[in-house]
Amino acid sequence: MRAQMVIREAPDHFDKRDGPDCLLAIQDAAIVGAIVYDLCDDDGFGHVHSLGVALDRRRIGIGIDLKQQVLDNCTAAGATAVWSEVDRNNVKMQGLNEKLGISYTPNPLDGKFFYYTARLVATLEEDEEGLAWTVDNPQGDI
Ligand SMILES: CC(C)(COP(=O)(O)OP(=O)(O)OC[C@H]1O[C@@H](n2cnc3c(N)ncnc32)[C@H](O)[C@@H]1OP(=O)(O)O)[C@@H](O)C(=O)NCCC(=O)NCCS
Repeated sequence: MRAQMVIREAPDHFDKRDGPDCLLAIQDAAIVGAIVYDLCDDDGFGHVHSLGVALDRRRIGIGIDLKQQVLDNCTAAGATAVWSEVDRNNVKMQGLNEKLGISYTPNPLDGKFFYYTARLVATLEEDEEGLAWTVDNPQGDI
């Protein structure tokens, strides 16, 4: 039900110029998955608001592909980390995050939720311009 709501609302988010970004997974001309996120705030954090996959298309890798693409987009935008809040009873989303190697801490203000934070590691590299920081995503390919 929650996933269907995310998918239904996704096109609205997609059209808003100042709102969050949205990626859609499309199969057979139908939206089967959506992820709504912020690329990078002033502190260098990306944020996943919500992720949903249609009931009949689950467990075939759509959710993890959408989240990996968001990590890649946030890395490219200069984020150093991407965070999300997950209900402590949501074993599906916890499993997905853990498969990507993303660790969690309990939300100290609300015991119902965990904070999952994907750290995007910065490394110092030298090119013709000299030394410069670049950001790598340890959970996936860049
Ligand atoms: C959570 C959700 C997005 C996962 O999407 P999905 O496309 O089915 O997930 P994937 O196929 O990419 O699965 C990736 C990994 O997540 C974990 N996972 C997914 N579904 C799981 C389940 N039912 N039980 C346990 N682990 C699960 C597994 O580790 C899985 O890897 P594996 O299949 O190799 O074991 C989907 O179940 C959903 O839409 N749930 C309702 C909405 C929701 O709760 N969203 C998250 C909070 S906004």
